[in-house]
Amino acid sequence: MIETPITSLHTRLLDRIRSREARVGVIGLGYVGLPLAVEFSKQGFPVTGFDIDETKARSINSGRSYIPDVPERELADVVGRGKLCATADMSQLADMDVIDIAVPTPLRKTKDPDLSYVVQAVEACAATLRRGQLVILESTTYPGTTDEVVQPMLEEKGLKADVDFFLAFSPERVDPGNPQFNTRNIPKIVGGCGPASTEVAAALYESAVEHVVRVSSTRVAEMVKLLENTFRAVNIGLVNEIALMAHRMDIDVWEVIDAAKTKPFGFMPFYPGPGLGGHCIPIDPFYLSWKARQSGFECRFIELAGAINSSMPEYVVERVAEALNTERKAINGSSILLVGVAYKKDVNDMRESPALDILELLTRRGAKISYSDPWVPQLKYDKQTLTSIDLAAAVNLKPDCAVICTDHSAFDYQALVDRGTLIVDTRNALKACRGSRYPNIFRL
Ligand SMILES: NC(=O)c1ccc[n+]([C@@H]2O[C@H](COP(=O)([O-])OP(=O)(O)OC[C@H]3O[C@@H](n4cnc5c(N)ncnc54)[C@H](O)[C@@H]3O)[C@@H](O)[C@H]2O)c1
Repeated sequence: MIETPITSLHTRLLDRIRSREARVGVIGLGYVGLPLAVEFSKQGFPVTGFDIDETKARSINSGRSYIPDVPERELADVVGRGKLCATADMSQLADMDVIDIAVPTPLRKTKDPDLSYVVQAVEACAATLRRGQLVILESTTYPGTTDEVVQPMLEEKGLKADVDFFLAFSPERVDPGNPQFNTRNIPKIVGGCGPASTEVAAALYESAVEHVVRVSSTRVAEMVKLLENTFRAVNIGLVNEIALMAHRMDIDVWEVIDAAKTKPFGFMPFYPGPGLGGHCIPIDPFYLSWKARQSGFECRFIELAGAINSSMPEYVVERVAEALNTERKAINGSSILLVGVAYKKDVNDMRESPALDILELLTRRGAKISYSDPWVPQLKYDKQTLTSIDLAAAVNLKPDCAVICTDHSAFDYQALVDRGTLIVDTRNALKACRGSRYPNIFRL
């Protein structure tokens, strides 16, 4: 059989992937990109990481990890064996067989998608694109980004997607700080811009990830991720509203959830908290509602959940005022200790952390703020830099009130409880301390 040029490009790339000869480039070496680059290199691929931040490239090349989920030992091992290197020089993209893009997709102030990082990364790919390369977008984004934005940019010089080069979308589902699920054992969704692209992209992930799920298009793959994160945002919004309601009705919402989750089917527990944080849940649903609006569709659930979730820091501050009131104190002039400021347990990520909103709201009302977070040694706020204080030392400073914003595993709350400090616990971290013996503990 005489091979057509398309099948020969396709077969050649598949062969190179299966033999681990394919050179893999990962653009964007953050919480998503670095674990991915390390996983590919552990599976035997020669990997080059690309990042505009030269300090990250330098850190990787000297075997130093700056992402808690990537153990330094593993990083140093793959770098030492010559399987992984990093650079800020985008011209080296020309040498890659596969390019995986994992750059940020934030929102603008107007809550519209900011695709500027994706566009910049795709421009770099387009500048050196050659026949037979596979480009995969991993950044979370609205349905249509790959075929409406990325594909035309890559095809500008005349090469055709799924014919001359391959293009796919594969959403990243990593959950930083999760000890059970990681890049390798979280199933990977893959949708190509055509069958050849789906096949080569799936083959790539099958060599590094335990389970790969193929879908029929890039749009479906993009929408899958947004459904997952919208599902979380809406359910968190619902449970936050239930928490506000339960407080008015003098019912302990945490006890309600614990009992409800004993139902073995049809219920999945979500927990209230001080508000959404991180680079995903507060942002991704707005990518979807923005795109739906282009088709004349208003996403009511997303907007409502967004409104409830973003009101939670205000509610926490109200609870602080109530707690202080029991001791005839005002927020103005009180010393308030924030316990945990990262957006979630056991991570150092401060992006969109609700603790920042709480800090701002309390400061505006005249509180004197200190904080304790073993994961976040320093915190920049309004031109000042705050420094974390060890929790035991912070308790000795006798704050007027402590607000548990993030329940890191490392915290020992005993001293805080024993001293009778007023505590607003937004995470049910002091689950065992209930009843009339603990009049100083206020829950959401
Ligand atoms: N962090 C998470 O838990 C998570 C989970 C799933 C999906 N995602 C999605 O993955 C994407 C990346 O998120 P992240 O948390 O890894 O972001 P991050 O900020 O940790 O890392 C992104 C990296 O990209 C680099 N970068 C930006 N523009 C670049 C460019 N043009 N060329 C090269 N490098 C560039 C930045 O310097 C940074 O190091 C986002 O779309 C996010 O929504 C994140």
